[in-house]
Amino acid sequence: ATPLTHAAADVLRANDRGEQTVAAPLLYPHQWSWDAAFVAIGWGTVSVPRALDELRHLLRGQWRTGMIPQILFSAEPGYFPGPQRWRTVGLAAAPSDVVTSGICQPAVHSLAVWIIGEQAHRNGGADAEAFDLFLADTFDAWLAWHTWLDDARGTHPSGLIEIHHPWESGMDNSPRWDAACARVRVGEMAPYIREDTKHVADSGERPADADYDRYLWLVEQLVSVRYDDAAAREVIDFRVGDVFFTAVHALSADLLARLGTRLGRTTEAATLREMAARARAAVAATVDPGTGHARDYDMRAGEWLTASTIGGFAALICGAEPREYTRLVADLLGPAWCGHASLANPLPPTTSPDSPVFVSRNYWRGPQWPVITWLFTWALRHHGESEAADAIAAAGRRQLADGTFAEYYDAVSGAALGSRDQSWTAAAALAWAA
Ligand code: DGY
Repeated sequence: ATPLTHAAADVLRANDRGEQTVAAPLLYPHQWSWDAAFVAIGWGTVSVPRALDELRHLLRGQWRTGMIPQILFSAEPGYFPGPQRWRTVGLAAAPSDVVTSGICQPAVHSLAVWIIGEQAHRNGGADAEAFDLFLADTFDAWLAWHTWLDDARGTHPSGLIEIHHPWESGMDNSPRWDAACARVRVGEMAPYIREDTKHVADSGERPADADYDRYLWLVEQLVSVRYDDAAAREVIDFRVGDVFFTAVHALSADLLARLGTRLGRTTEAATLREMAARARAAVAATVDPGTGHARDYDMRAGEWLTASTIGGFAALICGAEPREYTRLVADLLGPAWCGHASLANPLPPTTSPDSPVFVSRNYWRGPQWPVITWLFTWALRHHGESEAADAIAAAGRRQLADGTFAEYYDAVSGAALGSRDQSWTAAAALAWAA
């Protein structure tokens, strides 16, 4: 262990609430869905049983539909919107013993299960046994999650997984959603006070108030149909095919298929492989011939969303035809992205520095996010681009050497931004060292 991994493990321990890790102290005092998956990967390098507990806890929030919700609320105060705004309690589809929000986040969980499984089997002994037991116990839950995505969110002819809220993308205020958000007509709703801006040094690091009005309005629209997916497709102002989400679903479904094969679940494994193939084809079909980048699709307006963001590199996550994959890797490393002259660190910025809407310090509108950087390095290695993965990982580790475990970093000045001691940033440090 190095001083950095020691410090990273300390962050996880400080944010540990027993079986769940808060995504961050103060700013995110609950268990978040995709955060929990990355956090479990981090825990896996420290303690496999603790990693498995994190995922088991998350599954307590799984809806009867199969959806894994974005937030499982803890008793800690300080976050808005809380349960009163989400109004999921008492819904037939929601779990009865924990309180959750009513939307989802990218399906990185089976990726986490895969990685923890590899770690457990490297460790051998009790860790390997605990993992195998866990996998046998939870395989059907992960299968139900991907099946729900495919059935309830994969109905559009494009084959893209659709989302009904920018929060479902995990990249809340990314320029990816600007055009679709501009079409949201905010109606009458109860007044509210934001909490998030109280926990950062400068509100310019967070989404704007106008964004929050839309976020809260979309929650009202979802509440009005009691989170019924078919009804939501009709009423929701924000209905987009998320190419990055689709790519993550493809990668995870493929890995879950491999785990299913090990369990002897060959029929389910074949179904998962088909799901993954459909999703990968959907990602490939979004590529803009002009830029070579993947695009999101506004299903409400029937238009491509063309902002120049990290979402354009979705195929690097799920895989693509080899020549296409190599071309995208060169593009990511090249002078328009990681190698852009304005960047403090040669790491993927969330929005192109050449885009007119790039803001180096605002949340998903420019900053570099260590956890996203890590995800790209894992996927690059998985798809055979180890050299590129190593180069980015080395720069990613250098960025974390400041020891703040910041949520994200100013792409131009290199300053730490957002929350400090963010759990998934600590997890990225641990995963890189494993
Ligand atoms: C937030 O509250 O900022 C989160 O990103 C929502 O998931």
